[in-house]
Amino acid sequence: MIKVSELNFSYEENVPVIKNVNFEIKKGSYTTIIGHNGSGKSTIAKLLIGLLEKASGSIEIGGFELTEENLTKIRSMVGVVFQNPDNQFIGSTVADDIAFGLENQQVPTNDMQEIIERYAQKVNMSEFLDKEPTKLSGGQKQRVAIAGVLAMDLDIIILDEATSMLDPQGKEEINALVDELHEKSNLTIISITHDMEEVLKSDHVVVLDAGEVKMSGSPKEILNRSEELIELQLDIPFIYKMQSELENVGIKIEKQLDIEGVVSELCQLNSKS
Ligand SMILES: Nc1ncnc2c1ncn2[C@@H]1O[C@H](COP(=O)(O)OP(=O)(O)OP(=O)(O)O)[C@@H](O)[C@H]1O
Ligand SMILES: [Mg+2]
Repeated sequence: MIKVSELNFSYEENVPVIKNVNFEIKKGSYTTIIGHNGSGKSTIAKLLIGLLEKASGSIEIGGFELTEENLTKIRSMVGVVFQNPDNQFIGSTVADDIAFGLENQQVPTNDMQEIIERYAQKVNMSEFLDKEPTKLSGGQKQRVAIAGVLAMDLDIIILDEATSMLDPQGKEEINALVDELHEKSNLTIISITHDMEEVLKSDHVVVLDAGEVKMSGSPKEILNRSEELIELQLDIPFIYKMQSELENVGIKIEKQLDIEGVVSELCQLNSKS
């Protein structure tokens, strides 16, 4: 679905921010991009939707090379929700905001109302449809931005720390909604996150450091290199910390991504001994 090759980018001359980045993303997969502050994650998101222009290399999306001519086509396939909702509002009401992308896609007016209501409900913003977006809280604005992008029936959604403003319950609700759409509609998800628990459930993880891809692989492949992750100032999920602690006291099991797996491995050890 996405192929990034030898991608380079700088904001300022002689200060490379993205350095020879390569990765591929399969259709319908869930990819997480992790890396500490300033590693270039948001810059990659902006390059992928053509908000920034690469210095060299190539970006292919859905079989199309990202170029000036293909920009409209690519923007009809990819949507992004950024970390700061203040930069993404344009309508005079919440309903207008959710409708914005749909209007660009020329969805018939009759269908639009139904879609707006459905997605407003999914993000718990139904009561706010007539309200001015500027009067919402940060978390509420973010829910509206998410509803607007999810309503567009895209092929690829990039979430750039899109739930970082939400409280734990709000985060969980949005994550569940994204998971549901991912499963039902074969949506390709790229989630830029600091949440290592989210990394565990992804199909593919890309680890960035100072604009370079340091690791790329399955969650297990990445987490088996925990020491390198710690060196890159990244957190280790609780489930992996626990298994390292077990190892420290001599209990060695095949590494698991969830608690059920750990329990099952421990039970097997117990029955063997
Ligand atoms: N508009 C800009 N002009 C100049 N430099 C920029 C600009 N935006 C970002 N940078 C620099 O580019 C680098 C990558 O920034 P980017 O925002 O992509 O990082 P990030 O991984 O998204 O970080 P965070 O986790 O804090 O969101 C940083 O060194 C940052 O200072
Ligand atoms: Mg960022």
